[in-house]
Amino acid sequence: MLPRHLRKAPEPETPFDFTIRDAVLPDMPAVREIYNYYVANSTVTFDEDAMTLKEWKAKFAYLDKLGMPFLVAESPSGQLLGYALVAPWKQKRAYRYTVENSIYLGPAAAGKGLGRALLAELIDRSKAAGLKEIIAVIADQGAEASIALHEKFGFQEIGRMGRVGFKFDRWLGTVLLQKSLK
Ligand SMILES: CC(C)(COP(=O)(O)OP(=O)(O)OC[C@H]1O[C@@H](n2cnc3c(N)ncnc32)[C@H](O)[C@@H]1OP(=O)(O)O)[C@@H](O)C(=O)NCCC(=O)NCCS
Repeated sequence: MLPRHLRKAPEPETPFDFTIRDAVLPDMPAVREIYNYYVANSTVTFDEDAMTLKEWKAKFAYLDKLGMPFLVAESPSGQLLGYALVAPWKQKRAYRYTVENSIYLGPAAAGKGLGRALLAELIDRSKAAGLKEIIAVIADQGAEASIALHEKFGFQEIGRMGRVGFKFDRWLGTVLLQKSLK
């Protein structure tokens, strides 16, 4: 064994460091990449076709115009780790205080507490924007982490729809959860 002064100290555990900020248009390629990973590999989204950059840019512009929160988390080196946004729940005017949220982390960033941090900020920012109700529509298979996360923030189950989606050769349902921001 090496003498003590030559032995290498154990590597300190790398802390999972991130900052949360408003999304900007140049984030859209990375946002698209994160989302499309789940389109191709999971049933947490019912999309089957990869979203294009053009679609993400249009979505960003639309949410920006409405003043709806769209947040991203990035690593100290500037790598996009995940995003969270809210979008109108329905177009009819009386629904204007109600939004649907969406939260996606890159697979390597999941399970480390970032979802909690992003959702907390998204809720605060939605309140500040004058929104009153948030709805989460979550797949009833394969999205256990998302259901657990939303329930931890006081989202309550308000209903389920069975067999409304068909992806990867199987039927899927959704769980609807709602949180009041009042
Ligand atoms: C869902 C998602 C945003 C959650 O974020 P996360 O950073 O992985 O979750 P966190 O580490 O903040 O954990 C949040 C809570 O959920 C719990 N949780 C996490 N994964 C879980 C799992 N697979 N099953 C049950 N509970 C789970 C954690 O224990 C944690 O609770 P705690 O803080 O009391 O320990 C993230 O995993 C993700 O992006 N998944 C893929 C995309 C997705 O499903 N998006 C949602 C579509 S509706």
